[in-house]
Amino acid sequence: MGRIVQPIFIKEFLPNQILNLVYTYSIIKFGNQKKFNIDTSTNSIIWEHGDYLMEALMDLSTPVIEQNVNKKLFPTYSGFRVYDKGADLPTHIDRPSCEYTVALCLGSHPAEQPYEIFIGEKDDSSDYKYYSADGDLERYKIDYKFPMLPNNAIIFKGMDKLHWREPCEHDHFITVFLHYVDQDGEHKDFKYDKRPALGFKRYE
Ligand SMILES: [Fe+2]
Repeated sequence: MGRIVQPIFIKEFLPNQILNLVYTYSIIKFGNQKKFNIDTSTNSIIWEHGDYLMEALMDLSTPVIEQNVNKKLFPTYSGFRVYDKGADLPTHIDRPSCEYTVALCLGSHPAEQPYEIFIGEKDDSSDYKYYSADGDLERYKIDYKFPMLPNNAIIFKGMDKLHWREPCEHDHFITVFLHYVDQDGEHKDFKYDKRPALGFKRYE
């Protein structure tokens, strides 16, 4: 386990024109899917590892994230997720490629309604309960609750802290996850998520 740093909240991550471009791209691409890639862990309608535009966004965001966490970083992989009504995210921690995780909301409908990300830990004395990745209802202490709106981002250490989302009430809520590892850290071998290059499709 690395040293725990506080999550960093960024209210306006992208310039507005870039956000509009990426959101419009997402709607056009995923509005025309012939088949959905349903992620059974979240029931979210779409999950894609390594979409080319999201990989470019991750690569170009590297200096901004480096500045925020004060480390030199390698990008690992981008993950694109469309939550829709009823999708959720059970409590979990991430794998080593996600040493630094950035969750960025690209857009949602309705746009003015936030969708929270919770960060916390197991605590048997807590009244709050939620589902673990195994489907068990367990008790958790909530350390942070970020009500995410379009263009909000949080940077956090996904391997160190449990995180989750309760059921989504939106028609759609689009998040891209940008992942990085410390260039000098113990997970540096996960550069590009062990792919030969960004955008390499391991699963096709
Ligand atoms: Fe995660």
